[in-house]
Amino acid sequence: MDFEQASKVIGKTQRNWDYTVPIPQEHIDHLINVSSNAPMKQGIQTYRLFASTRLDFNEMIYRWAHDRHDKGPIQNKIRNSQVAAPLLMLYAVHDIGDVIKDPKNKKKIVELNMEYDVERDHEGNILRYIPLASVPDFCFTTGVAAGATAMASADLGYQTGFCSCMNIPGLVDEINNKFPGVAMKAFWNEYAIMDILCLGIGRKNPNFQSNQVIEDGKVLTTIASTNKKRPTTYIYK
Ligand SMILES: Cc1cc2nc3c(=O)[nH]c(=O)nc-3n(C[C@H](O)[C@H](O)[C@H](O)COP(=O)(O)O)c2cc1C
Repeated sequence: MDFEQASKVIGKTQRNWDYTVPIPQEHIDHLINVSSNAPMKQGIQTYRLFASTRLDFNEMIYRWAHDRHDKGPIQNKIRNSQVAAPLLMLYAVHDIGDVIKDPKNKKKIVELNMEYDVERDHEGNILRYIPLASVPDFCFTTGVAAGATAMASADLGYQTGFCSCMNIPGLVDEINNKFPGVAMKAFWNEYAIMDILCLGIGRKNPNFQSNQVIEDGKVLTTIASTNKKRPTTYIYK
C-alpha cells in the first residue's frame, strides 16, 4: 500500500472487528519485527511489548481501557473497543524510576547522562528514584515503534486503533490474579509501568461503521470522530 494511503488508515480509529479471520503467524512475526527494529534512544529498553491474539485476554484489557479518574459519562468507559482486537500490540512503558534503580542498567544510565534524584528516609535509605529528565524519550521511543507497526499493519490490509487510556492498577491486579503464568507475572511486574499504549490490529467488521462500538451484534454506542486539524507546519527552503 502507498504510504500516504496507509497514513490515512492509521489516522482513523477502528472500533469493531471481524473475528472470523485469524491473523496469520507470519503477519504477527512481521509486525513484531517492524516494532523491534524501530530505534530506541541509546538502546535503552524503554518499554515491554505484549502481542496477544487471545480474544478473551484482549476483551479483558478493553474492560480496563479507561481513565480510572474519569467521572464522565459511561460512554467514556466503553469507547475504547479498538483494544479488543484480533491482534493487540500493547506497549508497557517502563517507569523510569524503576529502570534507574536496576543495577543492570547502571552503565547505560551513566552513558545516557540520565539525571535523577533520590528520596531517602532519615536513616539515609533510598526510598525512591526520581527521574529529572528522559520521560519524553521513553514515550517518544514507544510512539516511534507503535507508529511504524501501525503503518506496517495498514500495508498488510488491516485497520488499526490506538488507545492510551488504561486503568493500570486494576489491569495488573486482574492479570496477577486471573492469568497467573510465570511469564505473564514477569511481564507485568518486572518494572513498574509508567504508561500503556495499545494498538489494536485486525480486519474491520464489514457490517458496521468504523466508529461504532458493538456488543452481541448490536451497536452499543457511536463515537464521534475527532475533528483533527493538520499540525501547523513551516517549510523552510
Ligand atoms: C498516542 C495515541 C493515543 C490515543 N489514545 C486514544 C484513546 O485512548 N482513545 C481513543 O478513542 N482514541 C485514542 N487515540 C486515537 C485518536 O484520539 C483519534 O481518535 C484518531 O487519531 C482519529 O480517529 P477517528 O477520527 O476515527 O476518531 C489515540 C491516538 C494516539 C496517537
